[in-house]
Amino acid sequence: MIIKPMVRNNICINAHPDGCAAEVRLQAQRVKSFRERLKNSGANGKTAPKPLHALVIGCSTGYGLASRLTAAFGYGAETVGFSYEKEPLASKPATPGWYFNREFDRLAAAEGLFSTTFSEIDAFSHAAKQKAIEVAKERGFSYDLIIYSLASPVRIDPDTGTMYRSVIKPIGRQYVGRSLDVFTGKISEASIQPATDEEVAETVKVMGGEDWQLWITALDQAKVLTQGAITLAYSYIGPSFSWPIYRDGTIGQAKLHLEKTAQDLTANFQPKNGLKAYVSINKAVVTRASAVIPIIPLYISTLFKVMKERNIHEDCVDQMIRLFSERLYMKGISKIPTDTEGRIRIDDLEMGGSVQTEVSARLASVDESNLYTLSDPAGFKNDFLRAHGFEVPGVDYGREVTSFE
Ligand SMILES: NC(=O)c1ccc[n+]([C@@H]2O[C@H](COP(=O)([O-])OP(=O)(O)OC[C@H]3O[C@@H](n4cnc5c(N)ncnc54)[C@H](O)[C@@H]3O)[C@@H](O)[C@H]2O)c1
Repeated sequence: MIIKPMVRNNICINAHPDGCAAEVRLQAQRVKSFRERLKNSGANGKTAPKPLHALVIGCSTGYGLASRLTAAFGYGAETVGFSYEKEPLASKPATPGWYFNREFDRLAAAEGLFSTTFSEIDAFSHAAKQKAIEVAKERGFSYDLIIYSLASPVRIDPDTGTMYRSVIKPIGRQYVGRSLDVFTGKISEASIQPATDEEVAETVKVMGGEDWQLWITALDQAKVLTQGAITLAYSYIGPSFSWPIYRDGTIGQAKLHLEKTAQDLTANFQPKNGLKAYVSINKAVVTRASAVIPIIPLYISTLFKVMKERNIHEDCVDQMIRLFSERLYMKGISKIPTDTEGRIRIDDLEMGGSVQTEVSARLASVDESNLYTLSDPAGFKNDFLRAHGFEVPGVDYGREVTSFE
């Protein structure tokens, strides 16, 4: 069969096995080119700081995948990954991350790099933490880098069995924003009613720092944290006009909890084992979820246009290369650079004054008639499709796929 993307309302419900594998190979290749640049600059010598054993929770797509690729193929780290993907059925392809994980493991093995992936496990469970501990003990290593990159709509509390749901809603008042269908170029108005107190609390329970804390505590108790390990979780701030739906909304409350958790983790564990926990504020990129939040596709498309015009556009891989090489592992720098709140900032290019001024001006005048001049919905669409293995350069999409394996 020939597999074509099945997209409804900015959601893609299938994936292309060959395209997903090719996408990971292309991303890995870019990271390997970075490794060569690092080598040539002399910044990766024996004494240079680098990750040796990285645990990536949420490793299969988006920022988690890019983090893992950078740790492994940029710095030679052994990696253990966790994700919640669906395997293929006879009648249905797997979710994209399942193919991404498989190709990652194949590429790592080809380089003689240890990697192991738990593709279909609930990272919120106690069992997942035990698996990470078992791998470290069996291999005789401890983790020096723990990346927490989950984005999930639900969490089952591992002690009570209660299921919590996260929602993206404003707090206190209705949000009305423009929604862009990047496939048709249609702009419409979308409104979202404010969250109830219960929805706010549930979103914090799912996307806040409680589970991150459980992970670090479990790893510490099992003595599989290296002295001086670093742990990171990812967040987003974005421009003030998006705050009613993001930073000041339900998800923003969860992100504040994540920031508080980073401070608590450092305060609790640093005196004992030197652990430092950070929230890294990353740039807006296209991932599977970003297409469904009102205003975000229009904002990201316009941001891409402006950043591409200025040659400062970045995707997940560019962001993670910069995070590792210019924040986490800089030779001769003992302190990771942060803002006054202790957060790592790699959203600096997005949030730069002149970029934001230009994006705001364009958003004030963009409509369906000038969309493709002022904004870059095609770039958004391409990134979105590539996140599902479609429109990946070099892939023969005319090839009959006989199995979803
Ligand atoms: N996308 C953006 O523009 C953006 C910007 C800044 C920060 N961030 C943050 O980065 C983090 C990762 O987001 P992303 O956009 O890369 O998301 P994503 O959807 O691409 O990746 C989420 C990962 O979490 C995994 N996952 C979800 N539920 C799980 C579960 N129960 N058990 C195990 N794994 C599970 C998925 O399998 C996947 O690997 C989030 O905290 C997000 O808020 C995203």
